[in-house]
Amino acid sequence: MSESQLTPALPARVGVLGGGRMGAGIAHAFLVKGADVLVVERDEQAAEAARERVESAAAKSIERGATDTNLDEMVSRLAVGVDYDALKDRQLVVEAVPEDWDLKVTALRGIEERLAEDACLASNTSSLSVNGLAKELRRPGNFLGLHFFNPVPASTLIEVVLGEHTSPGLAVEAKRWVEALGKTAVVVNDAPGFASSRLGVAIALEAMRMVEEGVASAEDIDNAMVLGYRHPTGPLRTTDIVGLDVRLGIAEYLHSTLGDRFAPPQILRDKVARGELGRKTGKGFFDWPS
Ligand SMILES: NC(=O)c1ccc[n+]([C@@H]2O[C@H](COP(=O)([O-])OP(=O)(O)OC[C@H]3O[C@@H](n4cnc5c(N)ncnc54)[C@H](O)[C@@H]3O)[C@@H](O)[C@H]2O)c1
Repeated sequence: MSESQLTPALPARVGVLGGGRMGAGIAHAFLVKGADVLVVERDEQAAEAARERVESAAAKSIERGATDTNLDEMVSRLAVGVDYDALKDRQLVVEAVPEDWDLKVTALRGIEERLAEDACLASNTSSLSVNGLAKELRRPGNFLGLHFFNPVPASTLIEVVLGEHTSPGLAVEAKRWVEALGKTAVVVNDAPGFASSRLGVAIALEAMRMVEEGVASAEDIDNAMVLGYRHPTGPLRTTDIVGLDVRLGIAEYLHSTLGDRFAPPQILRDKVARGELGRKTGKGFFDWPS
């Protein structure tokens, strides 16, 4: 039976709070590289679902040869539960509960009070202010954003989001963790939309305004970016995949924080109002036959 070795630079004991779509992916990423991972969920039913998600991701990574270890060994390093107290021996905990301010603050405080003084705490928030969350904590120096992308196993990017009080040592260490996970870190000082959402949404909103003004069709605008700039997917098709409602929410947030250049175009508001939310509803800027 093959044995997994912890990849140097990674914490040996990692916790993940919330084992949904992202939390399960994050748990899996650390398991593949040899860490012991504890996932804490809100109730027994959610914990069971989280276990199934992580185990299924583990089985798939073994099938595609992403790791030398075997399923039994990998799963033996996974624990799933509902008790926050069990997180107390973790060296790093990544919070991945839903994107709700009060929920995140309660969750982060609940973890922090159980962790050792020198343990690190990260949030996978995709839009909330890391500085704002840090203000709610007692040890802001030990806190930062680790913004994983969906689906975690296929994505090679992690945004390391530094708050103004994140310790320089943690900033260096977090970059090493990302490399040890086989991914690339983009280091961002906390700002609305970090680097990825801000730039991705800016391009998408301009593409929508171009459709609105009749400059070119959605297909041709996307092809200009795919063929001319080697983007793997055009900004409008990406919007369809992400969901027009999700993009509208982010644009409204960036509009309120960064100003008029992020004002959502009327075409986006109209499509959302009509229920044309992209791939999930069968129609957005493109048609998505089931
Ligand atoms: N889905 C994406 O594409 C994506 C990408 C990057 C970042 N994010 C961010 O990741 C975070 C999680 O998103 P998701 O898509 O995985 O959500 P999700 O709804 O799939 O998962 C959230 C999980 O948290 C659990 N949970 C809820 N309250 C809890 C509590 N008090 N304690 C423990 N567990 C609790 C839920 O049971 C659920 O399993 C959000 O902050 C989101 O913005 C999401």
